[in-house]
Amino acid sequence: MAKHALSTRLWHWVNAAAIIVLFMSGLNISNAHRYLYWGDYGFDPKDAWLSVIRFPGWATIPQHYNLAMARDWHILAAWPFGVGLLFIWIAMLANGHFRRDLATRPSDWTPAAVIASVKAHSPSGEPAHHGYNAVQKILYGGVFGVLLPMMVLTGLSISPGFEPAAPWLIDMLGGRQSARSLHFLAAWGIFGFFVIHIGLALTDWRLILEMFTGGRREAAASVAPTPTPEPAPPVEGAIDHG
Ligand code: HEM
Ligand code: HEM
Repeated sequence: MAKHALSTRLWHWVNAAAIIVLFMSGLNISNAHRYLYWGDYGFDPKDAWLSVIRFPGWATIPQHYNLAMARDWHILAAWPFGVGLLFIWIAMLANGHFRRDLATRPSDWTPAAVIASVKAHSPSGEPAHHGYNAVQKILYGGVFGVLLPMMVLTGLSISPGFEPAAPWLIDMLGGRQSARSLHFLAAWGIFGFFVIHIGLALTDWRLILEMFTGGRREAAASVAPTPTPEPAPPVEGAIDHG
């Protein structure tokens, strides 16, 4: 059985490409008005909760400031991103990947599980061939379940064409400017995940290769439980209180 289903691999690389375009075109859009507000209205920088830096050309799509082109790129990439998210959710609920590999149990949320996950990732640790550890499950689950859907919801709600179709969405998010601020913050949340994720993936290039080829999942039977140690022989001269 492949370690990564074809649906996971297809989604993963389409999504990665779409997110890079979305993030870099988003930074160009941000340069158009570098102030973020809470609530419904905002145009005066003195009411802003955050004054954002101007992002340099190398970080933006296109490389020069052009709001119309940046929006075209953003919407172009938003389609494969949004449709891909819907596709992967349906696929991983149908093929059991979510229940089997990503859903957490209460024991995954304990400090001991987090320490075990970090140890497993250290150079001397066991390579994780028999599934994701607790930290991976929590982070991947958070990306699938919180960050990525939030990008779609906040992104749709600040799209001028969509707003009249679902004004309740904006109300739910606390107003148009709040939705925009949340969109911006979640984009940086994804950036943070992306940096750590790539950093860890690059420590073992086989993991990256497997995200293309599918790799092989080790049979559950080969993950033998640790044998129970033999009871220690009675110590010579020990006092038997029994
Ligand atoms: C379905 C997905 C998405 C849609 C429909 C969408 C839509 C939009 C729209 C309409 C804007 C313009 C806001 C404005 O003019 O005030 C925007 C801005 C932006 N988007 Fe997205 N977006 C999506 C996904 C993403 C993703 C995945 C990222 C990054 C990982 C991202 C990053 C940004 C950034 C940084 C801005 C600039 C925020 C600002 O200062 O206004 N977007 N997005
Ligand atoms: C282009 C750079 C990227 C590389 C090299 C990369 C690499 C990888 C690798 C090697 C794995 C498998 C980890 C393992 O088997 O232990 C993985 C899984 C995953 N990656 Fe990425 N990734 C990239 C971009 C992204 C982006 C942008 C996102 C989303 C924001 C993302 C989200 C995920 C998720 C959710 C999984 C778990 C997939 C599953 O099993 O359902 N990755 N990635």
